This record gives sequence, C-alpha cells and structure tokens, in this order.
Amino acid sequence: MDLKILPSQQFINTYHPMSETAKISLQGKEIELPLIIGSEQEVGIDISDLRAKTGAITFDVGYKNSGATASAITYLDGELGILRHRGYSIEDLAENATFMEVAYLLINGELPNKAQYDVFDQNIRSHTLVNEDMKNIFEAWPTGSHPMGQLIAMISSLSSFYPESIGTVQNDNQKLLNVYRLLAKMPTICSMIYKKSLGHPFNYPQNKLDYVSNFLNMTFKHVTEDYEIDPVLVNALNKLLILHADHEQNCSTSTVRLVGSSHANLYASVGAGVAALWGPLHGGANQEVIEMLEIIKSDGGNVEKWVEKAKDKNDSFRLMGFGHRVYKNFDPRAKIIKKACDDVLNKLGVNDPTLEIAKKLEETALADPYFIERKLFPNVDFYSGIIYRAMGFPVEMFTVLFALGRLPGWIAQWNEMREQKQPIGRPRQIYTGEILRPYVDRTKR
Ligand code: ACO
Repeated sequence: MDLKILPSQQFINTYHPMSETAKISLQGKEIELPLIIGSEQEVGIDISDLRAKTGAITFDVGYKNSGATASAITYLDGELGILRHRGYSIEDLAENATFMEVAYLLINGELPNKAQYDVFDQNIRSHTLVNEDMKNIFEAWPTGSHPMGQLIAMISSLSSFYPESIGTVQNDNQKLLNVYRLLAKMPTICSMIYKKSLGHPFNYPQNKLDYVSNFLNMTFKHVTEDYEIDPVLVNALNKLLILHADHEQNCSTSTVRLVGSSHANLYASVGAGVAALWGPLHGGANQEVIEMLEIIKSDGGNVEKWVEKAKDKNDSFRLMGFGHRVYKNFDPRAKIIKKACDDVLNKLGVNDPTLEIAKKLEETALADPYFIERKLFPNVDFYSGIIYRAMGFPVEMFTVLFALGRLPGWIAQWNEMREQKQPIGRPRQIYTGEILRPYVDRTKR
C-alpha cells in the first residue's frame, strides 16, 4: 500500500513557539504564557500551564476563540474568505482536481503522482463491496426513516464487521486498511440508503467505474433498466464533493477528533462526526435551505417578508444557509457553488423556480443593514441543495452527500490527531450549581 499516515514532524513544522510571551495579571500575580505561531503567522496563546500556575481556567462557550489543536491540513481565513488544503486553494482544486486526488492530498499531505494515484484508486476500488449481512440491518429500518440516522448506524457498524479496527495498537497496514475500507464503502452505503428509501433493490458496485461514477450508478441505476452515466452529473458531483472535503475544526470534525482522542476506532469516530453534521446549524442546513425556499415559494415568493422574520428576535426563524462561525466576508465555497448552480441547471435543462427565489433572497439580505452589520453571507449550503435536487436527489439525502464529501477530511483529521498523540479531549467548566448541602430524608423535604 502506498498511502502514508503523515509523520508527526509535519505537525511540529507548523507549530513554532515564539520568543515573545503574553502576560496576564491575575489576583495580584503576573504570569507569562508562551505564544505559538502558525505557518500563516496566526498567533495563539499557549495556556497549557495556566491552571497549574494560577488555578484559573479560560471560559469560551462554543469555542469561539479557542484553538483545540495545531493542524497542517487546512488553512482558513474567515475575514479574507480564504480556504486552502495543504497549501492549495479551494478554487484551484475545485477547478482542476478529482475528488480522489483531493482525498489523497488531505490524507497524505501531497497531491499524488500518477503511480501513487493508481495504487490509491485501485485500493479503494477493491474494497467497495459491503458485507451481505449489512442488508439485514437495512431491512430493520422502518420505511421513511431519515437517511442520516441510517448513515450514523451503518458507518459505526463497520467496526462490527471489521473488529480488528477496534484494537488501539495497530500496524500501518491495519490503519490503512480501515482508511481504504471506509472511503470505498461509503458510496455503497449512501446509495443503499437511497435505494432503501425507494423500496428498490440495491445495486452492487462496479469496480471498473471511478468513485463518483460508481456512486451515481449504484444510486440511480434501476435494476430493470440500463443507466447511462451523465458526465454533467459526474463533473458536478466531483466539484461538490471537493468543496465539502475538509473545513478545519468545524463541529463535526472536532467531534471526530474528540471521540477519536479516547482511542475510539475510526468507524465509531466518523459515525459520531456524521451525527454532529446532521444538525440544522451545521450540514443539515442544506436540507433546511430547500425546505425554506419551498415555503417561501408557496407563500407567494415574498422574500422581503421572510428576511424581516429572520431579523425578528421574537421569531425563531433564521435564514438557513446564511451566516458562518468563521467566514465574516464571504464563503469561497458558496461563490463557486453559486456559479456551478447556474451551469449545472443550464446543462441539465432544469428550470427550478427556487433558484430565482434563492438569488432574490441573497440580494435582499445582502443589502439589509441587519445582515451587513452581523457579516452574514450565504454559506456552502445555500446553493448546494438546488444542484443536488436538479441531479435527482431527494432533500433527505442532501446531508448524506455532504458526509460523502467530508469523509476524507474526517479521516485526515483523525489520523493527524492520533499521529500527534493528542491527549483525551476533556474540557473544563465553571460550576454554577448548588454548593455543598446535607441530605434531607424524603419525609422531611
Ligand atoms: N439568520 C438570521 N440571523 C442570523 C443568522 C441567520 N441565518 N445567523 C446568525 N444570525 C444572527 C444571530 O441572531 C446573532 O444576532 P445578534 O448578534 O443580534 O444576537 C448574530 O447573527 C450572530 O449569530 P450567532 O448565532 O451568534 O453566530 P454563530 O457563529 O454562533 O453561528 C451559524 C453561526 C450557526 C452558522 C449561524 O449563522 C446560523 O444559525 N446560520 C443558519 C444555519 C446554517 O446555515 N448553518 C450552516 C453553516 S455552514 C456549515 O456548517 C456547513
């Protein structure tokens, strides 16, 4: 096998301690904290010794200011709208690379040469089948159960089919086998979930096909009919998967790293990441966007009214697909997807009125002081659902497609975390409950 888990040196190279320090004064005591600097000159205050030296902890609900790790995988500048993987811009990768090349890049640190690519690709192709017993699990799901719930269970269940993945001490070949198996079986599982929703028989993978074509064939081929794989769909999905491939320490990736930090196996850790992705404030937003656009359409397309609702603090409605924790100027992925949306719908000859509503909604919100002041822009999920729907996917499958794209990122981050030998993740808290009080007998309370 050709794939290498990155040596920890790569991590150390991006994590330079600085001679300068930060000083804090606390209850009459002054202490110095070391600074660290990343390869793009980002500065962090290293507080590892803070509690030992002062007894105090830092308080940062939602981790808005806290770095949980140093990482050499993805660089993101939310103010400037920059996203790079291993030094390559997302624009460059989305325009020129295949999803498999990006997967290799994220996991292995470099773009593959032809020989490396062929070995990687071949290894994935040779692991696409899932154990036949997995079909029995699918039989147990009630009709209409949400695809994301199924995906969480199916990915975690791989650890039951490959129990050797559970051991905490694994040689490189065992680790790589887990990586290949997970990457290879993910499209098969995702397509099975779709087929289950239709009550149709599953299609087996065809290993002569590339990753994206194989997925489309398993998903859309009807067992009784021939299916011609449309290159427009292959190119569009390839681009969408690249745009979702990694996004540094977001909610689902942090979950994968946190779960993996307890030395839980790769399948269980990624299953947990899928659960985090499902939430409507994260990857689940792509389904919510289309549902929101449909509601606005059936309400007469009055976008101004819905923008007002989103601004109203007494109304729980938010503009789904708008706003981002780190992007405060624009989301570079949303820019690419918006353009791709026009291209794909044109090429497929699809006229989707929700695209017009989405554009009008974007225009109205971007001109509104509420959204300008809060730096709220369309994110990656705003236009992706319109493409997915034009390709033939039902809305419930949208977040599954996000997970399919994010998988190489989760794997790369999990590997890096284990290579860095990170300690178990365990945040502190400030306790605000009752102080010590005596037990009172039930009859006397
Ligand atoms: N519609 C209306 N108001 C919004 C929106 C929105 N979509 N997003 C944020 N705001 C407002 C908040 O009410 C808040 O206003 P306030 O300062 O007056 O209280 C302010 O903007 C800041 O919002 P926060 O929720 O504090 O920002 P945070 O960084 O915690 O949340 C998030 C980011 C979760 C993405 C948020 O913008 C949101 O809920 N967006 C809609 C859901 C969505 O599209 N999620 C996908 C994100 S991309 C991804 O995960 C793949």
